[in-house]
Amino acid sequence: MALNKTNPTKTEVWKKLTTHYKETKDAHLRDLFSSDTNRAEKFTLQWKDFLFDYSKNRISTETMQLLLQLAEEVNLKGAIKAYYDGDIINETEGRAVLHTALRAKKTDKILVDGVNVMPEVYEVKQHIKEFTDKVIHGELKGYTGKTFTDVVNIGIGGSDLGPAMVTEALKFYKNHLSIHFVSNVDGDHVHEVLKTLDPETTLFVVVSKTFTTQETLSNATTIKKWFLKYATQDDIAKHFAAVSTNSEKIAEFGIDAANVFPMWDWVGGRFSLWSAVGLTIALAVGYDNFDALLKGANEADVHFKETEFSDNIPVVMALLSVWYNNFHGAETEAIIPYAQYLSRFSAYLQQGIMESNGKSVDRAGNVVGYETGTIIWGEPGTNSQHAFFQLIHQGTKLIPTDFIGYKHSLYGNKDHHNKLMANYFAQTEALMNGKTKVEVISELEAKNVAKKEIDKLAPFKVFAGNKPTNTILIDKLTPRSLGSLIAFYEHKIFVQGVIWNIFSYDQWGVELGKQLAGTILNDIENTEISKHDSSTLRLLQYFKK
Ligand code: F6P
Repeated sequence: MALNKTNPTKTEVWKKLTTHYKETKDAHLRDLFSSDTNRAEKFTLQWKDFLFDYSKNRISTETMQLLLQLAEEVNLKGAIKAYYDGDIINETEGRAVLHTALRAKKTDKILVDGVNVMPEVYEVKQHIKEFTDKVIHGELKGYTGKTFTDVVNIGIGGSDLGPAMVTEALKFYKNHLSIHFVSNVDGDHVHEVLKTLDPETTLFVVVSKTFTTQETLSNATTIKKWFLKYATQDDIAKHFAAVSTNSEKIAEFGIDAANVFPMWDWVGGRFSLWSAVGLTIALAVGYDNFDALLKGANEADVHFKETEFSDNIPVVMALLSVWYNNFHGAETEAIIPYAQYLSRFSAYLQQGIMESNGKSVDRAGNVVGYETGTIIWGEPGTNSQHAFFQLIHQGTKLIPTDFIGYKHSLYGNKDHHNKLMANYFAQTEALMNGKTKVEVISELEAKNVAKKEIDKLAPFKVFAGNKPTNTILIDKLTPRSLGSLIAFYEHKIFVQGVIWNIFSYDQWGVELGKQLAGTILNDIENTEISKHDSSTLRLLQYFKK
């Protein structure tokens, strides 16, 4: 079944939401809380070791009812079925969207073109297990017989961000292998990494779904040349592995078939860390931890598929985001993990969310007349508090923010963890309540500040508050809970794409720049420069001089 092509603004409930927004837009969270002592309970969902408190949002029971009605009217139920069943929901590329199959149970049956893909998925998982076990335990050796000490992941976009984010997030669970990432076509990146490496003890994993990506092929070629300064062509088989759908190109590159890990066109790059693209993750933390990550994602998949929308964490996350994006006019969302391990989490989600839902044409091919994908940004707390939180608190923009935190730290340092979490709770409370003029004045009076000075300072010390936040409080950062967390955001992306009537799983927008870069590379490398606008032309002439 194809996804339907319902324009969300033409639904019955959209009109009601518009009216509801006008009627409630000035309500202050402070008042919503004081008028309902049950509010936190009403708007909190608990699932396994996750607590999702969305009570500090500008919503009422009626808002949620209307948003849930929107989900019904765009047939989210049917869309979820099509997503899990492997229907061709990525219509413009003629593909199914089945990253959920990568973490499904062995006994599940998931058909693509009438063929159950699960046996193949588990065959590749077995290969990942055997290969990574052998590298970690020193059974696979380099060309001089030494065991591997370093692994370099060569890839970009989804072939880099997922593995890089998860490897950092699960650092606590890491083994002895040092993991490096080379992504940028900027040669200084690869050379900085190479200078730290010993060719005899380094394993290179080339990750590219298409195996045509300029950055990855350039980096892999530079690395191969560097390697061949020390070793022979035959030694490549021992030091290079590849992950791709393009077996022909891998063979051309000279990687041994035994070290090739296939993936499938029904896995989008930005959703691929669960496939063999996660090889570097499995190398870094061991196969069992990688498998636990997948299990956590599968549990979130089951929750998303089977839970009533009102109790469904990714559905509620998506609906709240639609509420701010399409009714309150918010353009960006911040994601703030109170965990240094999650320092790459927002960067990872930037690709997931912005490459998926950064679309302005609907599923019927018409230019949309409403806002779609949100701008995602963020950095870990508490560092971000000392950087950009000022603007969230007192700036003119509305920035709904997700606060992600853990009940327990991994090293168990209570003193630090209590301080970290005190900040986590304090920020959401401060963002919600703000500080009134009356409060500011009484605070200054208590400090014996002169009346004239109080009058001067008070306007600057007032915080409007009413800033929406979600609090995601998880027991502990484990491979399993991380898998669930990532999967929740993946499903949030899906729900929003369904509501906005856009195709979330293609990315044509990145193609134009790639095409032009090809032409410009010719201009740079040859004497003649082809036709350009006067600015680009002058810049190229200046660069070539
Ligand atoms: O340019 C965007 C993109 O196609 C992403 O969607 C993808 O994750 C990235 O490039 C890398 O692609 P590949 O894995 O094919 O090298």
